[in-house]
Amino acid sequence: MASFSLRFLLSFLSVLYVTVLSESGTTSKPDKFVLPVHQDDKTNLYVADIYKRTPPLQIPFVVDLNGRSLWVTCEENYFSSTYRAPRCHSTQCARADAHDCHSCSSKARPGCHNNTCGLVSVNPVTGLTSMGELAQDVLSIHSTPGSNLGPLVKIPQFLFTCAPSVLLQTVLPGNVQGVVGLGHSPISLSTQLASYFGFAGFAPTFTLCLSTNGVIFFGGGPYYMHPGIDISRPLSYTPLIISPQGEYYIEVKSIKINNNDIPINATLLLVDRQGLGGTKLSTVNPYTILQHSIFKSVTEFFTKELSGIPPVNPVEPFGVCFNSKSINKGSRVGSSIPDIDLVLHDQHVVWRISGSNSVVEAAPGVSCLAFVDGGLDTRASIVIGAYQMENNLLQFDLARSRLGFISSLLFFRTSCNNFNFTAVP
Ligand SMILES: *[C@@H]1O[C@H](CO)[C@@H](O)[C@H](O)[C@H]1NC(C)=O
Ligand SMILES: *[C@@H]1O[C@H](CO)[C@@H](O)[C@H](O)[C@H]1NC(C)=O
Ligand SMILES: *[C@@H]1O[C@H](CO)[C@@H](O)[C@H](O)[C@H]1NC(C)=O
Repeated sequence: MASFSLRFLLSFLSVLYVTVLSESGTTSKPDKFVLPVHQDDKTNLYVADIYKRTPPLQIPFVVDLNGRSLWVTCEENYFSSTYRAPRCHSTQCARADAHDCHSCSSKARPGCHNNTCGLVSVNPVTGLTSMGELAQDVLSIHSTPGSNLGPLVKIPQFLFTCAPSVLLQTVLPGNVQGVVGLGHSPISLSTQLASYFGFAGFAPTFTLCLSTNGVIFFGGGPYYMHPGIDISRPLSYTPLIISPQGEYYIEVKSIKINNNDIPINATLLLVDRQGLGGTKLSTVNPYTILQHSIFKSVTEFFTKELSGIPPVNPVEPFGVCFNSKSINKGSRVGSSIPDIDLVLHDQHVVWRISGSNSVVEAAPGVSCLAFVDGGLDTRASIVIGAYQMENNLLQFDLARSRLGFISSLLFFRTSCNNFNFTAVP
């Protein structure tokens, strides 16, 4: 009870600090926040610049939808007057589910103290893991009135992990210093924002709108995209399934191409007790991965529907490719490319993957079906990747355990590149 009151008081003080004076002279509390994200063209990974530390510094992080925490390398150049490492067995360690006591034999610095708590961080691209020190420091994020960037809001004691720089390896974009996780887990960015702002009318949801220059919204709509379109409704909804690892899954019941069911072993689409099978969403896989038999079925039917267009030699990592001249993406939507429908929990709720999300120009003049063969031994049978999420709107409603979505904003004559990043007071 005492710690709750203290947290309430701290939160209350910080909201006072950020309370914005509107034109009419009344005050309003920010109830939504926005994080600009851009796509790295070498790796196709999504990168967000996040303000951390005191004085604040913008640091680039790879966005991992299923990541359990925010981790950053602290070995060099970590300067902040507000860095703290909670003692082992403290409430912060319990909250982070970090029960190991951490020690460090080199000179004391951020990430290297004795009697702090240790937490495992993961490189989501390679799967490499490493033990680091649980830490807390200031994190700042832009509030937003729905369009534009509003004032920065501080979260004074944001929990994260100081990981060794070896964890970055060479697979992450060159300037990136860590990974920001949005998973359904105790200290992910989405969970910490929801618990910090929970009392202030903040809806515990976050919304991905990914593109070359896209955004992630935290909190409820409206969110406006140029030319003034509220993209937060109307959405279609399907239940979110949370795996034991805190990853986001949805139920795909069948797949249709040009409105025809394609044959799929239905067992593969169900998640079993060990968390195998089913359909996971992921921002760290550039293209959707399909278990081998599903991949075979999808590529065969897609090719059949494109009869008359001869395939050309496929470009890695794809299985079927065509001459770009013969496969007309047209105006990106409404082209001749067959629609691929993921039929969800209810046969009327469909995630439609149209040409702009199903076909990619993989080499000059060569367009490929943007799906990858995952082989026979996959954990999830379908992993919906970043290319299939581009210019989709995906709202993770954590209170109601549901995913709200719009299959393609292009049909609404806008895109995820259309947020107005001009700052407003
Ligand atoms: C941690 O304790 C060990 C053993 O007492 C000591 O050698 C080491 O310098 C300490 N590390 C830090 C970062 O203070
Ligand atoms: C369907 O998939 C399950 C799980 O991989 C497998 O055990 C079963 O034999 C498959 N059924 C058919 C008809 O291939
Ligand atoms: C972006 O927002 C600024 C500030 O409100 C406004 O002046 C500008 O016209 C907007 N840009 C576009 C393209 O709508």
